[in-house]
Amino acid sequence: MSAVTRVVTTRPALAAAYSEVASGALRAVVPTMGALHEGHAHLIREARDRVGDDGHVTVTVFVNPTQFAASDDLDRYPRSLESDAQLCAEAGADLVFAPAAQVIYPDGATLITVDPGTLGSVLEGAIRPGHFRGVLTVVAKLIHLTGAGLALFGEKDYQQLVLVRQMVRDLSFPVEIIGVPTVRDSDGLALSSRNAYLAPADRARAVVVPRALAVGTELALAGATARDIVVGVNDFLDDQSEVSTDYAIVTDPELGPAPREGAARLLVAVQVGGVRLLDNVAITLAGGS
Ligand code: PAJ
Repeated sequence: MSAVTRVVTTRPALAAAYSEVASGALRAVVPTMGALHEGHAHLIREARDRVGDDGHVTVTVFVNPTQFAASDDLDRYPRSLESDAQLCAEAGADLVFAPAAQVIYPDGATLITVDPGTLGSVLEGAIRPGHFRGVLTVVAKLIHLTGAGLALFGEKDYQQLVLVRQMVRDLSFPVEIIGVPTVRDSDGLALSSRNAYLAPADRARAVVVPRALAVGTELALAGATARDIVVGVNDFLDDQSEVSTDYAIVTDPELGPAPREGAARLLVAVQVGGVRLLDNVAITLAGGS
């Protein structure tokens, strides 16, 4: 395929690109940090489908420094703009916005930030303090800069999706947030840019993550309570060698306390070979005791 997507890196170039788009056209944005894979492609295709041929799809590629801790992997985060632009073209994007840090943060880190509230300091937020403040602040900026009416996020980063929805609701952003199901490898491992860090033996071990979700799903289908599912999934993970569990938890779909019955979410975060792997799945609790 020889599709080409325009790549712009500055605000004036972005504005110039949008000046060519029909004023009534529905604009979608897919925010990413690059190192794009089939999971991102799925978001872009979904965006294309939703806005239609007359609409416009922007993919942002920006490794946002403010969501990384000093000890984090900011410097070694994979960067591959050329192949990213190719993937964007093939998935149907119209434009890639790939700014340098100075374009997004001309005065350095912003004085004003988006406070993620209490949900920002649990689960991923407990392990990565400040992470969601950085995420929400840059997502707010990217939505404003692209003027998008639709913004798409993966269920893969479930806490991020819930927090973005909350920000948009609480702060009355005129944008619709679309959550997109997780794309997985043939063995069930969720695709992630960070999977590239896994040594081959650790990549093989990583299959315990989707298996842990399957264990929890089966327990839920058998009528187990949220508590029993948490115990079952933790026991399963504890039995795996060279896998350490950060958390395995059942919540309601908004990440509040697990209900007794009905829709719930099972979320798992583990470390394999020094790489953190996150995953989650919707489950239904039968209401047993
Ligand atoms: P990044 O990790 O690049 O992910 C960009 C989007 O792709 C997120 O919405 C993420 O949930 C989604 N995604 C990743 N893997 C996926 C998979 N296997 N299936 C479906 N969707 C998947 O998330 C970020 O970047 C950043 O925090 C960002 C929102 C861009 C803010 O900097």
